[in-house]
Amino acid sequence: MSDHETTTIDVAAVRRALEAHGQEHLLRFHDELTPDQQRSLLEQIERLDLDELAGLLGAHAASAETAGLPDDLEPAPYHSRAEAASDDEIGQTHRKRGLDLIRRGVLGLFTVAGGQGTRLGWNGPKGTYPATVVTGKPLFRCFAEQVIAAQRKYGITIPWYIMTSPQNDAATRAFFTDNNCFGLLRQNITIFPQGTMPSVDAETGRVLLADRDSIALNPDGHGGAILALRESGALDDMRSRGVEHISYFQVDNPMTRIVDPVFLGLHAGATDSSGEMSSKMVARRSADEPVGVFARSGGRTMVVEYSDLPPDLAAATEPDGSLRFIAGSIAVHLISVAFAEQLAGSGTDAALPFHRARKKVPHVDVETGSSVEPEEPNAVKFEKFIFDALTLASSSLVLETDRTDEFAPIKNGRGNDSPATSHQLQSDRAGRWLEAHGVEVPRDAAGHVDAQIEISPLTALEMEDLVAIDLPRLVGRGEELVL
Ligand code: UD1
Repeated sequence: MSDHETTTIDVAAVRRALEAHGQEHLLRFHDELTPDQQRSLLEQIERLDLDELAGLLGAHAASAETAGLPDDLEPAPYHSRAEAASDDEIGQTHRKRGLDLIRRGVLGLFTVAGGQGTRLGWNGPKGTYPATVVTGKPLFRCFAEQVIAAQRKYGITIPWYIMTSPQNDAATRAFFTDNNCFGLLRQNITIFPQGTMPSVDAETGRVLLADRDSIALNPDGHGGAILALRESGALDDMRSRGVEHISYFQVDNPMTRIVDPVFLGLHAGATDSSGEMSSKMVARRSADEPVGVFARSGGRTMVVEYSDLPPDLAAATEPDGSLRFIAGSIAVHLISVAFAEQLAGSGTDAALPFHRARKKVPHVDVETGSSVEPEEPNAVKFEKFIFDALTLASSSLVLETDRTDEFAPIKNGRGNDSPATSHQLQSDRAGRWLEAHGVEVPRDAAGHVDAQIEISPLTALEMEDLVAIDLPRLVGRGEELVL
């Protein structure tokens, strides 16, 4: 049978399936394509789960989008950092338990780096973005240096798993190769792409064509990590290496403490933790800060995403004026491998629901064949969120941390959560670490460090590590200092 005949037979079957779901426009340009393009388009169509899509587009999804919050929603309780990390018996117990686990080699690292980074306007994987204050080290190097430092400090190997998307997978791999994996062994790094979902026209529910021969696809959200971890073999790799807990973090925050003994000790041993999934929070800086909030309903911990939090709840205050839903998610979790396997085990990760978001998606107009660059959101994207797994854990704890210790995300080109705010937070933390060792550090009227200070994790993974380093007596105002 010739290639041509194969294609013809496939087209007929595919067309029938598409017609049954009102998506036959996907073949609108089929007859004008080259045989290779035809094959590529048909393969993309065959990978679509048309029944799932129909379900998402139906009444159920429409109501899910507007579903209200539970009536019994209340702020989630949390462990204060001061209490959890204190020098008293409880604090020491958590720290010791966490250190023991780290030294046993049961911790694996997991970075979600599949997002498209459109807000930052960076032409490449976000992990390649220059993030540090003076030397502009890329985000991936910031984490790699923490891995190297932790491996040395604890005398172990820590495997690192990185989820990309089909759009940025090749560029991410090339970046690691070009940089010699930043000094890490390639065999301990696993890079794999997440799944995708079709983008659909917001008015008609028709799947958009990115081009005449390709479907408009978007990454399926970081909740897609559960399935991607299983399908890539990463969960099996973790098991074979004895990994029991996954340190989960986003690619956008260079200050994430990716190996944290106190957090791990609490997650694995605190009485209010089932050891399945735990989270870190910072106090929200304002009612409109774009972070999810930790809440509780029916005895279960959950994150309500900022876009789903009604303004009155976002701004609700306690009698002392502090925000009632104070706990903002920094998207840092510990997840047990057993829990991830359980979530992934059913064959699909249906346990996590899809969320719908309206976005601008460039596409080809199926009537005219011309390219459309929309100025207003024209499409619906479907994404899963990893934090929806929290409600499936039987008991999930939240640990407070300090913004200037661990949360300096780079999300926007300017304004909040931009390189400028991240650099200030990085210098503020470095300055505080130096001051704790007797160094005089200049500060401005607002109390911020008035110098650009960068401390590599290879010099000090934690503040205490500076004790072994030759430090200057003082830092000059406006000085650039790299340690
Ligand atoms: C996210 C959280 C928010 C949290 C905040 C803290 C979501 C939906 N919201 O907001 O609750 O308070 O971070 O900084 O996550 N990613 C993938 N694949 C995808 C989509 C995203 O790997 O399909 C990764 C991105 O690369 C990034 C992270 O997930 O590392 C966050 O995605 P983003 O959409 O930027 O979320 P935020 O709005 O920043």
